[in-house]
Amino acid sequence: MSLPLLAKLRQIVGETHVLKEGDLSHWELDWRRRERGKALAVVRPANTAEVAAVVKACAMAEVSIVPQGGNTGMVVGSTPDASGTQIVLSLQRMQVLRQLDAANMTITLDAGCILQNVQLACQQAGFLFPLRMASEGSCTIGGNLATNAGGTQVLRYGNTRELCLGLEVVTPQGDIWDGLTGLRKDNTGYDLRHLLIGSEGTLGIITAAVMRLYPLPTVQLTAMAAVPSLKAAVALLGLAHQHLTAGLTGFEVMNQFALSLVVKHFAQVHVPFTASPYCVVLENSDHESDAHAISRFESLMQTAINQGLVNDAVIAQNITQARSLWHVRESIPLAQAVEGLNIKHDISIAVSRIPDFVHHTQALLEKHHPGVRLVNYGHLGDGNLHFNVQAPEHENAADFLTEREADINTLVYDAVAQFNGSISAEHGIGSLKRGKLAHYKPATALSMMHAIKHALDPLGTMNPRRVL
Ligand code: FAD
Ligand code: MLT
Ligand code: ZN
Repeated sequence: MSLPLLAKLRQIVGETHVLKEGDLSHWELDWRRRERGKALAVVRPANTAEVAAVVKACAMAEVSIVPQGGNTGMVVGSTPDASGTQIVLSLQRMQVLRQLDAANMTITLDAGCILQNVQLACQQAGFLFPLRMASEGSCTIGGNLATNAGGTQVLRYGNTRELCLGLEVVTPQGDIWDGLTGLRKDNTGYDLRHLLIGSEGTLGIITAAVMRLYPLPTVQLTAMAAVPSLKAAVALLGLAHQHLTAGLTGFEVMNQFALSLVVKHFAQVHVPFTASPYCVVLENSDHESDAHAISRFESLMQTAINQGLVNDAVIAQNITQARSLWHVRESIPLAQAVEGLNIKHDISIAVSRIPDFVHHTQALLEKHHPGVRLVNYGHLGDGNLHFNVQAPEHENAADFLTEREADINTLVYDAVAQFNGSISAEHGIGSLKRGKLAHYKPATALSMMHAIKHALDPLGTMNPRRVL
């Protein structure tokens, strides 16, 4: 059955864009190297019509499709399983910036556009596209939408969902839904856009989107502060909200061990504070005069020092210094990957409860798994921690995962549930957290999700065994 299908796919996208032989690890191995799959083929359509034709052909043959953007996802959602029966549909050739509508303050673009290219194109046109994350050089708008990605400016601009004003989608049957209206108001029944956002490729393929733009800030101020505790970091966040109001665009936290991994693996990255239990990166973006913004930012830092919330701080004096402070924060996931395989927990908890959660869960980990190393960092301003666990030093990381991952996950996620939090704040569910979703999501919500999946994808060919 597969041969006629592959021949058909070659007809649709061209011989050279159906990859079958050679090293396909770029598409078959997930970013964290947790799982290596085997694709029936990697198919790379050039436009929406080709995506629709590919999906139709696969649906006729009842062959499953795994949509893939930049393959930077954290939960093994964009790579095929090991069966050799799934098609990876890569959006990487679809990179057209279709239209920038200055008056509507929107950009319409293909789903395969790389996030960083979008940021730059918008900046050149005098606008801010505020989605920002360390994977921006590789991840795609389609992947950002499919995962409802967060990043480091959610505090001010929201998740990817909040930035989207319309979608174009190929359904599991291969039909095209054109929802690229760019409307800010449209109450005509169920909002299909929001159903597709965050669906991780299980309900259809996002082929294009209309995204919101913002005015470019005229002033951007960045600081790194050494704080004595997580409690102090939360108090500093409150103070920053009061002083900077809507100007507060980023508030990230990092524990000492996370920073020590950056020092260990990236000698070229300058980490200003290495002995503080926690550090915070905060950012203020404004549209007023430099002098006013600077004095407000400095007054915030001074007040924080006076109140004992900050022990020491550096304020970037120019864009290069600001970039280098952000670079410290953004290097953590990369340093962690170099350190070895690890257990990631991308959790959210009400900001006010985060210090108690960490205290409680860290103590449990120390008791039941002595020696594990906690890489704790993340988007504190959003109540989102990357509460990651690395094997004890000198313990083989792969063995550590085999022997302890299940126990550690249960320990951490039970604590998250006890604190009324979420087991996935921004990375999604993929295949890695599928079992956990089934356990922690309320039964009624799960059954509604299954009903939606079945209604839209009755054959179950769209990214099967992901999410549900
Ligand atoms: P992929 O990894 O290719 O796919 C992710 C999921 O979306 C898969 O389920 C896939 O099937 C589906 N999918 C992809 N494209 C489409 C499409 N067009 N239509 C339908 N489904 C599709 N995430 C955050 O939220 N915040 C961060 O701060 C952040 N920082 C990161 C830093 C690093 C260093 C790395 C490696 C990753 C980071 N991530 C972060 C995770 C990741 O970059 C995001 O989840 C991103 O949105 C994935 O985009 P992608 O194009 O790589 O998607
Ligand atoms: C981050 O905030 O750095 C990302 O979500 C990536 C990660 O957690 O590894
Ligand atoms: Zn993150």
